[in-house]
Amino acid sequence: MHHFQYRNNELHCEDVPVSRIAKDLGTPFYLYSYATLRQHFRAFDGAFNDVPHLTCFAMKSNSNLAILKLFALEGGGVDIVSGGELYRALKAGIDPKKIVYSGVGKTSEDMEYALQSRVLMFNVESSQEILLLNEMAGRMGKKAGISIRVNPDIDPQTHPYISTGLRENKFGIDIRNALEEYTRVSGMRNLTVSGVSCHIGSQLTRLSPFVDALKKLKELIGKLKGIGIGVSYLDLGGGLGITYDQEEPPHPREYAKAIQDELDMKDVTVILEPGRVIVGNAGILVTRVLYTKTTPEKSFIIVDAGMNDLIRPSLYGSFHGIEPVRVTCRRKIKADVVGPICESSDFLAKDREMDSFETGDLLAIMSAGAYGFSMSSNYNSRPRIAEVLGKGDAYHVIRTRESYEDLVRGETIPEFMLKDDDRPPTADR
Ligand code: LLP
Repeated sequence: MHHFQYRNNELHCEDVPVSRIAKDLGTPFYLYSYATLRQHFRAFDGAFNDVPHLTCFAMKSNSNLAILKLFALEGGGVDIVSGGELYRALKAGIDPKKIVYSGVGKTSEDMEYALQSRVLMFNVESSQEILLLNEMAGRMGKKAGISIRVNPDIDPQTHPYISTGLRENKFGIDIRNALEEYTRVSGMRNLTVSGVSCHIGSQLTRLSPFVDALKKLKELIGKLKGIGIGVSYLDLGGGLGITYDQEEPPHPREYAKAIQDELDMKDVTVILEPGRVIVGNAGILVTRVLYTKTTPEKSFIIVDAGMNDLIRPSLYGSFHGIEPVRVTCRRKIKADVVGPICESSDFLAKDREMDSFETGDLLAIMSAGAYGFSMSSNYNSRPRIAEVLGKGDAYHVIRTRESYEDLVRGETIPEFMLKDDDRPPTADR
């Protein structure tokens, strides 16, 4: 359920016509619905009300400060994977005691910053990382709470680029070696065991891989208890999928029920790290048709948003619905929707049946709230686009479109290159 609906053939974000925002701000831009974000957060978090839990939004999916603030106000925490994400989270007012630090390649600087900020726990992913964290904590006179991210070797049945819980993936510590690793940690002076964690993949549309992973984690917790190591947290990661096209993922209620039925432990706090399921369908990308062209092979609709703005179709072959902002009675055609970037991989849809859009039409690229803006780049020296939050009959710019000056911020031409005598004599002066 989301609040992007048609009224009088006009797409609205809550009560605001999308075309009004486009007229005021220009295109392209990301547009999120406040009511949808809040509703999705509450539906997910509320589904776990019967167990002690903490919902740590995976902010890699969308790290805009206003969106983080919304979740902070709802009592949520975040899952971070970099010092930059920690900075954003603190700036948005997330309680450090609700921050879990995941990621396979934390640097000593990242660790120092997180220790200083007193985050809840580090989800550690290798023996070397454990050693470094112990050393850093010692140097700072602190104790770091850790949870080993185990790799349970479970097939999440999703796209290979976003599968993480298989033995062949770079993530986590093989669950078969976890006991040994925990024993080592329990002897380390500057670390305390806080929990056990896993994250098996993203955009999962079935419950069984989650339940299978939980079974394996429970077994490990039992073994740890047997050797006198207790855990306070069981972190199940994120990964619940959404409907982009025809997928029928379980509702958060069903997901929570499956987990609670299997959990059967009262003395641990469950940590959830949902990203996509909260923000994915709460955001759209609004773009305008620049040109259309038809070759003997194909029809192309060339729009002003490119793969630098939304890379998911190019990178994963992902499907995003494409809807008209103003409904017309045009005939249907099959076309590719492509951006202005100089690569053939720059497309938002391929061979898609859609209205025969014309120059000037506004299109909504649906389900773009997760891993949309957060994966965008300046490729082709394109300023990153604005982000807008619709709420009721108003809208708020929550990130302004970048300027050309923003594009070159931090770049310098070394002094010697500006000196005349460094040029070859033949150079045109
Ligand atoms: N926790 C950890 C440790 C993760 O690595 C991830 C996502 C999540 C939670 C959140 O997963 P979610 O609930 O959003 O599925 N760029 C890709 C998705 C990459 C996911 C990476 N990790 C995409 O656009 O589909």
